[in-house]
Amino acid sequence: MAQTRKPARKRSTTRPVVLSDPGELRAILDRDRRRGRSIGFVPTMGALHEGHLELVRRARTVADVVVVSIFVNPTQFGPNEDLARYPRDLDGDVRLLATVPADFVLVPPVEAVYPPGHATTVHVAGLGDGLCGPHRPGHFDGVTTVVAKLFSMVGPCTAIFGRKDFQQLQVIRRMTADLELPVEVVGRPTVREPDGMAMSSRNRYLSPADRRRATALVEALRAAAAGFQAGEREPATLERKLRDGLAGRVDRIDYVFVGNPETLQPWPGAIPPGRTALAAIAAFVGATRLIDNVELGAETI
Ligand code: PAF
Repeated sequence: MAQTRKPARKRSTTRPVVLSDPGELRAILDRDRRRGRSIGFVPTMGALHEGHLELVRRARTVADVVVVSIFVNPTQFGPNEDLARYPRDLDGDVRLLATVPADFVLVPPVEAVYPPGHATTVHVAGLGDGLCGPHRPGHFDGVTTVVAKLFSMVGPCTAIFGRKDFQQLQVIRRMTADLELPVEVVGRPTVREPDGMAMSSRNRYLSPADRRRATALVEALRAAAAGFQAGEREPATLERKLRDGLAGRVDRIDYVFVGNPETLQPWPGAIPPGRTALAAIAAFVGATRLIDNVELGAETI
């Protein structure tokens, strides 16, 4: 007999249920799945903003039960990075999630994710080597390890990620396919402020003056997008547009990149006809490292 889809629960219109025990969440979600409900999952590190809420809204449209995780994952921060000062505001995050709404928020303690004796790291070869990879050694291993664990805690689901972290998205897609995890990975467009700046939890570090300078990233990407639109297909020329757009406005450039969005490798020559290209930037404004990207030929910015 065909199964009828159960209506979403009443509790989805109120504050989400906050759980710290991954086992308790998994048991609830397994019960939901047995009843024919699908699960949408948005992994986050908290300090939520409109970009995250858009992912949660998306999850709500594709699944019956929506889960958000909030876990500031220590293994994806380098020794000189911002783990200690990473913004944390659980109450504010839960209030925001109630407006979307989400059904469950998983907030596991570090010991639940990395219990004593934990010894396994998930490493995706290749895709993490370029772009942010050399500037953040170990970062993607931290991301893939925690995301594999979160996927296992949640179980079969549709997981939604933002394209602002484009390299992260590609690495997670590869890991999910290679490990045959029962998760459909969905990438969603970057949500931007009215002036075009990509939303990020780290934007709250910026002073008003630095915030104004930070628009250099989106403006540089727009210059490259205009070049691509006008027919420019030489990666070096498009990368020069990115550098020129950043020059004198940011304090340090980690990289500019125009290359293959699937392999994240440069092309040996011009961008092949009919192909899109990833234009990506990482740069410091003050002490804040910002990233942004656009897939030229596939999205407008
Ligand atoms: O994009 C993030 O917020 C994090 O890298 C993620 C995917 C939640 C893993 O900690």
